[in-house]
Amino acid sequence: MTTNRKDFLRNVGIGALGAFAAPALFARETIDAPPVVLPAFDEGKPEGFWRAVRAQYASLDPTLVYFNTGGLGPASTPVLNAFTQEMLKRQKDSDTGHDQFAPAREVVARFFQAKPDEICLTRNTTEGTSIVASGLKLGAGDEVIIDSHAHPGGSIPWYNQHKTRGVVVKVFVPDPAGAESNVERIRALITPRTKVIQISHVTSPTGIFLPAAAIGRLAHEHGAWFHIDGAQSGGMFPFAVRDLECDSYATSGHKWLGGPHETGVFFIRRERQDDVAPSGIGAYSGSLPHLPGELTYTPSAVRYEYGTRNAASVVALAEALKFQEAIGRERIAARGRTLAAHLRRGLEKIPGVEILTPAGDGLWGSILTFHTPKLGYEKLFSDLWRDYRLRCRPVNEQGLDAVRVSLHVFNFHDECDRLVGAVDEILKKA
Ligand SMILES: Cc1ncc(COP(=O)(O)O)c(C=O)c1O
Repeated sequence: MTTNRKDFLRNVGIGALGAFAAPALFARETIDAPPVVLPAFDEGKPEGFWRAVRAQYASLDPTLVYFNTGGLGPASTPVLNAFTQEMLKRQKDSDTGHDQFAPAREVVARFFQAKPDEICLTRNTTEGTSIVASGLKLGAGDEVIIDSHAHPGGSIPWYNQHKTRGVVVKVFVPDPAGAESNVERIRALITPRTKVIQISHVTSPTGIFLPAAAIGRLAHEHGAWFHIDGAQSGGMFPFAVRDLECDSYATSGHKWLGGPHETGVFFIRRERQDDVAPSGIGAYSGSLPHLPGELTYTPSAVRYEYGTRNAASVVALAEALKFQEAIGRERIAARGRTLAAHLRRGLEKIPGVEILTPAGDGLWGSILTFHTPKLGYEKLFSDLWRDYRLRCRPVNEQGLDAVRVSLHVFNFHDECDRLVGAVDEILKKA
């Protein structure tokens, strides 16, 4: 074995176990493990690289194929180790570890190409969207436009404003046919009372990409706040959050980013922060040195954070982002698209399968959703899971009656082929 190969195997923690055996989770000796070093990417033979990435997912059950990153993304071994180490350390020292938030925020800001004072470390996407919905000064009759494919985490915060403040929620149906028509569908709903436009950056049920920057410009022409629900985009493909022309953007750490459960990122432009009053608020949100006194908000997005937190979560989230940077963010996006295209080609050959995710340029990424009119989504989803150990996601939002497949860095072409074979068999038996 060459020295380089030995170094590589040691660096990915698999030298003693044989090629591509998974590194031990939580092993004591991994506490001071060096950062993961992946092999050089070979354009001609990329599979070795992706097998090395897959080897970093020791927590993934090898008896199943996991196609549900859009629901909950598994965390890699470096992330789980960072989480465990940090938690043990803080328990041992009886220390909250709050000083870890600032370095974690720097990593998140770099990842999204924002400034650290524009980043609030939340617990999930829903929390970020709720901060905007409850913090903006809205009154009865003010209008908010959202997409009909919004996840409950994106719609319920606004419907709550309807219940509590009489805000009117208007809904547009995302058009899979083209970016421009989505801009037009939103334009058609705008009135002088429109105060907020929110989109799913990538729709949850069928993975349609909505044209964020164009919608942001439209919102601003009409003086409306533009918020992006980015639960399905953060970690699927790279972008600079400011280029999306949004005032605020929320995503989850525990989906495409591969962070630990209950982590999220909320971006809000520094110059717009005084327009969104903090709702959950306490220590760290501001200063109030003596009582009685005057509360001053923290001059950054930290004003939306409060109270004692689990520092292990944010340390491990930062580790997850570093892991994505080590893989290569463009490479992650391209891998998801390559697998989705491969899966599409396979499914298209099966009579009775309708692909709901659009195929047009710039409209799709690492999600593929399909419908089989002959079978209900519940049967298809549960047969795939029970008989083939293929974990997809059932989709019945808006009566779509479909199954969603998420394709990420630990998935492979042969897993897509297994899914195609299984769908074919199930339909033949039906
Ligand atoms: C578009 C979208 N928004 C919001 C959410 C809610 O995410 P979380 O539960 O992490 O807040 C999801 C979850 O799947 C989603 O797909």
